[in-house]
Amino acid sequence: MNYQWYPGHMTKAMRMMQENIQWIDLIIELVDARVPLSSRNPDIDTLGKGKSRIILLNKADLADEAANQAWMDFYRRKGFHVLEVNARSGQGVGKMNGLVQEACRDKIERNKKRGIVNRPMRAMVVGIPNVGKSTFINSFAGKACTKTGNKPGVTKGKQWIRLNKNLELLDTPGVLWPKFEDPRTGMLLAFIGSINDDILISEELAVDFLRSVSGRYGSLIQQRYGIGSLENPATVLEEIALRKCLVRKGGEPDINRASQLLMEDYRSGKLGRITLEWPGEDQ
Ligand code: G4P
Repeated sequence: MNYQWYPGHMTKAMRMMQENIQWIDLIIELVDARVPLSSRNPDIDTLGKGKSRIILLNKADLADEAANQAWMDFYRRKGFHVLEVNARSGQGVGKMNGLVQEACRDKIERNKKRGIVNRPMRAMVVGIPNVGKSTFINSFAGKACTKTGNKPGVTKGKQWIRLNKNLELLDTPGVLWPKFEDPRTGMLLAFIGSINDDILISEELAVDFLRSVSGRYGSLIQQRYGIGSLENPATVLEEIALRKCLVRKGGEPDINRASQLLMEDYRSGKLGRITLEWPGEDQ
């Protein structure tokens, strides 16, 4: 199946980021912990040259803990400041202030030397659609935040959320679109639900998913649905349908509904914590 999909409004989002980057000290980039490579757009490295950088492995609750650790090491080795978070529950978000201070240390020192002491660092949250940017901003900013109003020079309508005396956050997150240079990227993003399901064929998606995860995480699928061999994905879907009483008139297994159920169970975490790509793996 061809998973490539380009929405039309992405250049506008990139323009918003380009216009605002000059005001930013720190980029807080969210990636999906289940696909920490495919869910990032490397163009941000060009856009964010010279800025302090944080990478958040968001939705860490849905990803394999060992993989989270491996990816944090991977990005740290590349010079990023890294944290695993669950923006929905707020887990990990408490460590943000410390991490921001660490990431911005050089800039704060430079400011001090120039006599600038009380200027808060300014951050922008960026990431691909659905990665959890709004949830994170709400969680991080909490209820205590106050909008500071438009600042001169900043694109009209943009506002800064004052988090504390040290940090202000641009209230509009930067939306990036992932790069589809590798056909596998689109497929992995479809698995996590970041590509509109309406344009995908459920059964083909589920078959590709089973092929991708059966090796490492087969036991999770077997346990959840009480099935044996995973060798033939089409048979697996039939078995899921029968086990879950998803049948058509006449008793035929409803493969389409079984496929949708499998993907829903994966995306909601019911299937277990499954990471789809690991550092160093042939992507
Ligand atoms: P965006 O601004 O980057 O587009 O993403 P948004 O915050 O809207 O989050 C997309 C979905 O991901 C939301 O679910 C949100 O609750 C969920 N989410 C965000 N962070 C986490 C996380 O760390 N763990 C988990 N498990 N889920 C997370 P939704 O179903 O679209 O909305 P809702 O029902 O939660 O409101």
